[in-house]
Amino acid sequence: MSELSIGISPRQLTAKAENCSRLGDHLDHLNSPLPKSGLNTPRSATFDSHSIASEAWDALRRSLVYFRGQPVGTIAALDNSDEKLNYDQVFVRDFVPSALAFLMNGEPDIVKNFILKTLRLQSWEKKIDRFQLAEGVMPASFKVFHDPVRNHETLIADFGESAIGRVAPVDSGFWWIILLRAYTKSTGDSSLAELPECQKGMRLILSLCLSEGFDTFPTLLCADGCCMIDRRMGVYGYPIEIQALFFMALRCALQLLKQDAEGKEFMERILKRLHALSYHMRSYFWLDLKQLNDVYRFKTEEYSHTAVNKFNVIPDSLPDWIFDFMPHHGGYFLGNVSPARMDFRWFCLGNCIAILSCMATTEQSTAIMDLIESRWEELVGDMPVKVCYPALESHEWRLITGCDPKNTRWSYHNGGSWPVLLWLLVAASIKTGRPQIARRALQVAETKLSKDSWPEYYDGTLGRYVGKQARKFQTWSIAGYLAARMMMDDPSHLGLVALEEDKLLKPLLKRSNSWTF
Ligand code: GLC
Repeated sequence: MSELSIGISPRQLTAKAENCSRLGDHLDHLNSPLPKSGLNTPRSATFDSHSIASEAWDALRRSLVYFRGQPVGTIAALDNSDEKLNYDQVFVRDFVPSALAFLMNGEPDIVKNFILKTLRLQSWEKKIDRFQLAEGVMPASFKVFHDPVRNHETLIADFGESAIGRVAPVDSGFWWIILLRAYTKSTGDSSLAELPECQKGMRLILSLCLSEGFDTFPTLLCADGCCMIDRRMGVYGYPIEIQALFFMALRCALQLLKQDAEGKEFMERILKRLHALSYHMRSYFWLDLKQLNDVYRFKTEEYSHTAVNKFNVIPDSLPDWIFDFMPHHGGYFLGNVSPARMDFRWFCLGNCIAILSCMATTEQSTAIMDLIESRWEELVGDMPVKVCYPALESHEWRLITGCDPKNTRWSYHNGGSWPVLLWLLVAASIKTGRPQIARRALQVAETKLSKDSWPEYYDGTLGRYVGKQARKFQTWSIAGYLAARMMMDDPSHLGLVALEEDKLLKPLLKRSNSWTF
């Protein structure tokens, strides 16, 4: 816990952070001063990255949303050429990279405003038709409504009732907790997190996901489209994105909860869940060459606790592509695991968060980066990074997406490339001591992003084409780039989003190191 302590600014931590010491010689500019304005040319940056960053800052500032005179978030996209739908709202998940960029630039106020405003929205009574939602639910998005008659501003939130397909934003609460920790870490100001209303907000989110039910697994059961992939894409069940965010949020909450009676009770529940969750994820979601070979040779219909094939996965359900895709060195967390089902697709966000949160062991983290390096064309190609790999096609696409015309093969969520994911790849690369991967990805992105007006996503097997329905000036593409660039230029920022292994968890996690079966 000591190394997780909050209240120290990342710059102060530079010299101490284990994160950074592991980077060895790779990070030549580790002690370079933070480019406060975000416009100073960092030593490593080329002229191009300097002007791209300055253009990105202008665009990011244009995306600010004000409520009663205060900035409270950033709009999803500033593209007036397309139908707005809900792209004129402040999305909780979309604001995260904006918040990181502002924090890294020494501008924490907007982040604080956002945290407090969304907290107020959480306390609303939430109803969909006649059904009352749980108290802890955080909105997917909100917008400012200006009443011209009364000249008065109010906030309108969407908890899934207006979202296309009425999807539940399970990730919002987790991102909120993760952001609260990033704010605390960045500013050294723990007074925000210690506010009774923040403590309560956190406990409400935690109550939702730690409640007891019929579950036989420590993972969190979700409906389809409950995260960044917010359409039907076969990510129902136990999607890796949610499991990794769940793990990370639990660890952040451990640092933020006060040691009062209520706080302590939650901390105990969190610790128990973390032990079970890390064992489950490291053992059953992990796939590398050896594990793939084991699944390929699995016996089925094994009864009792001695079963090797715990979930009764039928080897015939292994997709053809996986045999060539799996490199000699490398591995990743599967998209989903449940009875008789392994979703072999690779998902970027979940795997990067697994590294940042230490849900992955050190060996697993290295293996994930090895895989990305070995499968660079497929996963990065012409634009970092594929949201998932590979795409669902033909019959599978019809069956799994329900014939979704927006999610055709190699487009949007179905194998599209999302620039916002760059910050996650860069953070994971730095944390694992592989900054050359981050540098390469940044270079690829810099050749196109500003020229193409910061699209939301790219299409094609290589991510070569601006997405069919991609919005331009998509804020999280802009902010994701900035956060990535600033982290690359000053790796001490990594502390905002990366956790070190927790000593309290260590003795129990050791037992689960048998992830190779
Ligand atoms: C799309 C994305 C979602 C994002 C939203 C706003 O719905 O799938 O992840 O939050 O747009 O950008």
